[in-house]
Amino acid sequence: MLSKTLEKALNEQVSVEAHASYAYLAMASWCEQQGMTGAAKFFFAQSTEERSHMLKIFNYINSVKGHALAPAVKQPSVKFKGIVEMVKEALANEQKVTASVYKVSELAQDEKDYATYNFMQYYVDEQREEEVLFNHILERIELIGTEGMGKYYIDKELEALTGGSAPTAEKAAN
Ligand code: FEO
Repeated sequence: MLSKTLEKALNEQVSVEAHASYAYLAMASWCEQQGMTGAAKFFFAQSTEERSHMLKIFNYINSVKGHALAPAVKQPSVKFKGIVEMVKEALANEQKVTASVYKVSELAQDEKDYATYNFMQYYVDEQREEEVLFNHILERIELIGTEGMGKYYIDKELEALTGGSAPTAEKAAN
């Protein structure tokens, strides 16, 4: 049985994941505006993945007799100075998500709710992968540079990470 405190924390995590999904949607749109269709594909896939993270928690809450709440979603950043700034923002967002995941996980441990603690370890792993992924992307972008053909190659680099499904750190490392 889920405590009220954990139910609230998990619902907050639903909201955090929904915001992540919308943030990537905005990034995908901005990339399309720049003609970076490969990068847009990557961010659309990220957005879909974040929605699946949101739904997984949503379903978990109801499965343990809590009440999952559809979240209010604040509009994310929709304009960016450039691709480097946008990816830096994506990484910063992921770091905030990680902090939030750790909070829920710690709370579950304090309450000795090992089912919820165990459930949250999927998100702990996921966040490690995503931080690795965005650090990798940032390094590649800085290596390629944004001058001349730079944006074209960055676009190709991000498209290659999509590979027909949601990107993962493992793909980034290959
Ligand atoms: Fe599911 Fe990357 O937060």
